[in-house]
Amino acid sequence: MNRYLILATALVAGVSGATASTSKLFSGGTIIAWNNETETPSVIRNGSILVVDDIIQAVSSQANPDDAPRDAEIIDVSGQIITPGFIDTHRHGWQTAFKTLGSNTTLAQYFFRYGEFAAAANFRAKDVYLGQLAGLYEALNAGVTTTLDHAHHTWSNETAYAGLNASIDSRARVFWAYAFHDIPTLNYTVADQIPNFRDIATSDILDGTNTELAIAYDSWGPEPGPEASQIASLAKEYDIAALTTHTLGGPWGTTNLPEDVYPFDILNGTLPVIFSHGSFISARGAQLLRSTNQYISITPESEMHYGHTHPLSYTLQDQAALGVDTHFTFSTDILTQARIWLQSTRYRLFNQVLSTWRIPRNSPMSVVQAFSLATRAGGLALRRPDLGVIQPGAKADLVVWNAAESPALLGWVDPIAAVILHASVGDVLHVTVNGEFVKRDGKITASRYKQVREDFLESAQRIQGIYEKMPLPVLEGQFMDGGFEYADTSIADTKHGEGNGYGSVYTDEST
Ligand SMILES: *[C@@H]1O[C@H](CO)[C@@H](O)[C@H](O)[C@H]1NC(C)=O
Ligand SMILES: *[C@@H]1O[C@H](CO)[C@@H](O)[C@H](O)[C@H]1NC(C)=O
Ligand SMILES: *[C@@H]1O[C@H](CO)[C@@H](O)[C@H](O)[C@H]1NC(C)=O
Ligand SMILES: *[C@@H]1O[C@H](CO)[C@@H](O)[C@H](O)[C@H]1NC(C)=O
Ligand SMILES: *[C@@H]1O[C@H](CO)[C@@H](O)[C@H](O)[C@H]1NC(C)=O
Ligand SMILES: *[C@@H]1O[C@H](CO)[C@@H](O)[C@H](O)[C@H]1NC(C)=O
Ligand SMILES: *[C@@H]1O[C@H](CO)[C@@H](O)[C@H](O)[C@H]1NC(C)=O
Ligand SMILES: [Zn+2]
Repeated sequence: MNRYLILATALVAGVSGATASTSKLFSGGTIIAWNNETETPSVIRNGSILVVDDIIQAVSSQANPDDAPRDAEIIDVSGQIITPGFIDTHRHGWQTAFKTLGSNTTLAQYFFRYGEFAAAANFRAKDVYLGQLAGLYEALNAGVTTTLDHAHHTWSNETAYAGLNASIDSRARVFWAYAFHDIPTLNYTVADQIPNFRDIATSDILDGTNTELAIAYDSWGPEPGPEASQIASLAKEYDIAALTTHTLGGPWGTTNLPEDVYPFDILNGTLPVIFSHGSFISARGAQLLRSTNQYISITPESEMHYGHTHPLSYTLQDQAALGVDTHFTFSTDILTQARIWLQSTRYRLFNQVLSTWRIPRNSPMSVVQAFSLATRAGGLALRRPDLGVIQPGAKADLVVWNAAESPALLGWVDPIAAVILHASVGDVLHVTVNGEFVKRDGKITASRYKQVREDFLESAQRIQGIYEKMPLPVLEGQFMDGGFEYADTSIADTKHGEGNGYGSVYTDEST
């Protein structure tokens, strides 16, 4: 069963570097490892993981392997469950200050109020820094170790650096995707952003950090922006780590389908291209994703919350990973996304049978599939087979779940079901990124976290003050003059008798 778990001792033994390596032995837990021959998780009970520096050096079926280095720090994880860190393939970290303000916002409202263009004038560089940093700590706390950040806080050279610096300082593994977009209100255009991007790409600011440079661009087509070719060239010139785009289509515009990106000669090479949402993906788009092995990022809660929906995504899960999107509006963690997605896929596929008056014989999707989407698939989307897996040679991005003590997990037998269906962020005990603890014993390890919280709150209160006074956008006629009319949804009725119980947003001003 553990045939593939060869101790990859050569990896470190061969290195005769000047700096002493540090080893950690996570000893005695149930490990959800990855078997890359069968492409499935492999459960090891009462085993151990040896981490040397930033790498998983060995995964063993013994709690205390004889050949573990004598100076290794032993972390007793008996009774606990260890998974790889979860991977979020779509997020906008800077938006933390909006927390709870968008509890029932729709996507059209979002664009006019909280989006990259609407928000630009309300954020100073330090607001971007603090929002991004607090947001990434929030992700790490939740066991999300890798984030593809569609960083559309690039409103000036300074705000660009602010979000980048926060990403670096968080010690999370961040694919920081510089967004190219014209910001007329601040007179900061793609033409201004290109030299800023080049500065970042040619500097040594990312050396030795957990942050990698990526690009975000939302004007690939069907009518490409004038600078689309230039951005494709930049992606190649600097050999960036990933490229990402918002893909909606349907009445939304913001199309950016795979067939729109394909003519720019970046889809079918070594560069990972991640299409966020893919709500109205086309048959041709799906075919292109498969033939070029590129991925969509399904953000289940976002797509339901805002109403972009995902009518087709469940048919494209072989080319899909998961994302959170705007964490100020809902759950920040990929575990919740995996759970919501699992159950909504089940609903959809069960309903296909029930709607023909038949009885489902089996369940359409498993916890193993949901787990794989939350971990391994994210690594594949980023073309990083060393992320989202526990196996020798992979990056030591680990989550230890408090399976020994959490009331939610008492009695678990199947560790994958325990995590996917019963655990919560509150059960995340330890988190490592690159072999270093970013959360330990339930607490964020960064010594400056307390100060960051205080500074963030001050920054957030100023921004929230602006938003409390800002009238809601009036949505009349067509959405962005795109030819599609606004229409009312029906409102849920949760109240017996008169009224529907809808209520209002409770802010400082309204309570
Ligand atoms: C785990 O393995 C260790 C060492 O082999 C052993 O002492 C311990 O009793 C085992 N624990 C369980 C729960 O089986
Ligand atoms: C970002 O960090 C660099 C040092 O790496 C510093 O020179 C620069 O001032 C910082 N910029 C912002 C906006 O925080
Ligand atoms: C915007 O910036 C350009 C140069 O980048 C400058 O020529 C122009 O005057 C500026 N416009 C405003 C309104 O500041
Ligand atoms: C932004 O950075 C670019 C590239 O270094 C530089 O040419 C430009 O002057 C900077 N803009 C401002 C407003 O500092
Ligand atoms: C992608 O490239 C491979 C060869 O590298 C080729 O066989 C395949 O047809 C290409 N697919 C598309 C859609 O261009
Ligand atoms: C499985 O992973 C190991 C270590 O990362 C690697 O050496 C091996 O080539 C992989 N095998 C396959 C089939 O991908
Ligand atoms: C829902 O949104 C409307 C604006 O569209 C707002 O006035 C109302 O207070 C919100 N209600 C709740 C319960 O969030
Ligand atoms: Zn987004």
